[in-house]
Amino acid sequence: MATIKDKIEDLRNALHRHNYNYYVLSQPEISDIEFDEMMHELQRLEDENPDLRDDNSPTMRVGSDINKSFAQVSHKYPMLSLSNTYSEGEVTDFYERVRKALNEEFEICCEIKFDGTSISLTYENGELVKAVTRGDGEKGDDVTDNVKTIRSIPLKLRGNNYPSFFEMRGEILMPWSVFDELNREREAREEPLFANPRNAASGTLKLQNSAIVASRKLDAYLYYLLGETLPCDGHYENLQEAAKWGFKISEATRKCSTLQEVFDYLNYWNVERKNLPVATDGVVLKVNSIRQQRNLGFTAKSPRWAIAYKFQAERAITRLYAVSYQVGRTGAVTPVANLDPVQLSGTIVKRASLHNADIIESLDLHIGDMVYVEKGGEIIPKITGVDMEARSFLINEKVKFITNCPECGSKLIRYEGEAAYYCPNETACPPQIKGKIEHFISRRAMNIDGLGPETVDMFYRLGMITNIADLYNLTADSIKGLDRMGQKSAENIIKGIELSKSVPFERVIFALGIRFVGETVAKRLAKAFKTIEDLENADLQTLVSVDEIGEKIATSIIAYFSNERNRTLIEQLKLTGIQLQQDEKDMSDHTDKLAGKSIVISGVFAQHSREEYKELIEKNGGKNVGSISAKTSFILAGDNMGPAKLEKAQKLGVPILSEEDFLTLIS
Ligand code: IVH
Repeated sequence: MATIKDKIEDLRNALHRHNYNYYVLSQPEISDIEFDEMMHELQRLEDENPDLRDDNSPTMRVGSDINKSFAQVSHKYPMLSLSNTYSEGEVTDFYERVRKALNEEFEICCEIKFDGTSISLTYENGELVKAVTRGDGEKGDDVTDNVKTIRSIPLKLRGNNYPSFFEMRGEILMPWSVFDELNREREAREEPLFANPRNAASGTLKLQNSAIVASRKLDAYLYYLLGETLPCDGHYENLQEAAKWGFKISEATRKCSTLQEVFDYLNYWNVERKNLPVATDGVVLKVNSIRQQRNLGFTAKSPRWAIAYKFQAERAITRLYAVSYQVGRTGAVTPVANLDPVQLSGTIVKRASLHNADIIESLDLHIGDMVYVEKGGEIIPKITGVDMEARSFLINEKVKFITNCPECGSKLIRYEGEAAYYCPNETACPPQIKGKIEHFISRRAMNIDGLGPETVDMFYRLGMITNIADLYNLTADSIKGLDRMGQKSAENIIKGIELSKSVPFERVIFALGIRFVGETVAKRLAKAFKTIEDLENADLQTLVSVDEIGEKIATSIIAYFSNERNRTLIEQLKLTGIQLQQDEKDMSDHTDKLAGKSIVISGVFAQHSREEYKELIEKNGGKNVGSISAKTSFILAGDNMGPAKLEKAQKLGVPILSEEDFLTLIS
């Protein structure tokens, strides 16, 4: 008879294997559904048998939403950087330097230079024990929990001929497809966009909540093995071994024995890199033999045995014939350069971002100028300079940022500390109105199915909706037949609008699109104020007393409700039947028994999951925090609370409550 322990072990092994097949080899053997079913089964068995916990179980890959601040860890070997070169001449110089210093045959291992964020992984007896960021090169942040969510990083190694202790370094990356999708979502939520996948990857790795990290689908390539007992003298050969242990090693890695072969590699990847799913910014050349690497040694900052050859950022030159201005949902005005079409990195560019008035000023931009356009890691091409020599006497006037809104004519304003100009006419400027409606119906807000930006635009042009409340006056009869809209689509839209009436109060607050009120703030507001009237009438003092609401958010909320048009809008919304107060049913099990308390959860529990305890803390008015400090009210401790935490708690005199104590406290 298979014991529970065997069953868990079998499932873990199978899931590690399927994970490797899918994320490292890209050759899945089972369907996603089968994978998910096995994962659920394992999760269930682990929940029921907390004594069989394993920190490297495949279930650890989903992350946890317990906030965690990162401990600083010293690197065993410092994480140095590489010296950069930009020309073939400098590559030749490097090659010659190495040849003279070694005075014997040598090979160069050529690798892609991945443009992400570097990571150091420590493996002990085939298990991942620590993942640390580069930090200042000497010390970095312990981001182990976040790294465990990256499916292409093995938690347990395959086979058995790996060293018992070694370090693996590599690059954590956000694939272009994930980056584009993430930015699309952020744009819809009016959150600041990530400039490039590198920033997105490093930002994600530093998130406090590993469940969000898991949802961001990071990837990783590993390129540097360190340890006292590596299998071979060749760096390339070691990487091939590491591939067998389950690491994702780039298939673009090559060994070259002549300078010509190195140049062929550079030229090939200078073009071919555009077809890779992740961002790259050059090629790394490494002397292959580790013995020879040791002979060459290091300078203070970088190894003498390696060099980075950076690809030229692609640049084109073209004529600027106009600057136009776009107004977003919040009224922010973005200047856009209109260009004579030019070919750049495989696409034709006609428009480029000019970001803000300061950038236009610093470029001393004139209409008719010949400008340089670059597409670096960024999504939108940008103007990086002006060819001053090409400026003629006949040049048109200097570009001056507009003073009035191009859509509604209102005078633009600039908030202190912000680079953008805004159109303040929130309630009557067309793109702001349409933007607000689009935000209102979006998935995370009222989630009105069947309605998209084009339909909103049509209803708006026809004068059928001028604000979000008007949506609730639409009927299937009034919209069917408009611009080829059939009975079915019309009914779907009305059904979606109808269903939005049961969307909870907190999401309605978010849907209003008040500046700086995102989903989390909306939740806090709903809990603190219970009804829209209470929120509407709250003063600054009351607002800032709510957890996580600072003066900036509070001022914005007050400004929103002081606007006469918004007050009228709220009156109109009250007639629609949407949820403008907290549902009592949702609140019946809420108390304020833990009001004002900061609570750390630690260890393994028998009666509820960590998730459930977190929820219980919040329902009773407390706050779940990640790390112990003098401000911590108490620790809710299960079995196996970490010794470091225990010591810290004792040092700071923070009380420790058992599961039973805690349940009695809130019962
Ligand atoms: S080797 C001592 N190989 O580039 C040499 N680095 O400027 C250690 N990088 O911090 C680095 N791809 O984040 C190496 N194939 C590759 C790389 C690579 C990207 C990054 C890495 C490092 C930086 C060096």
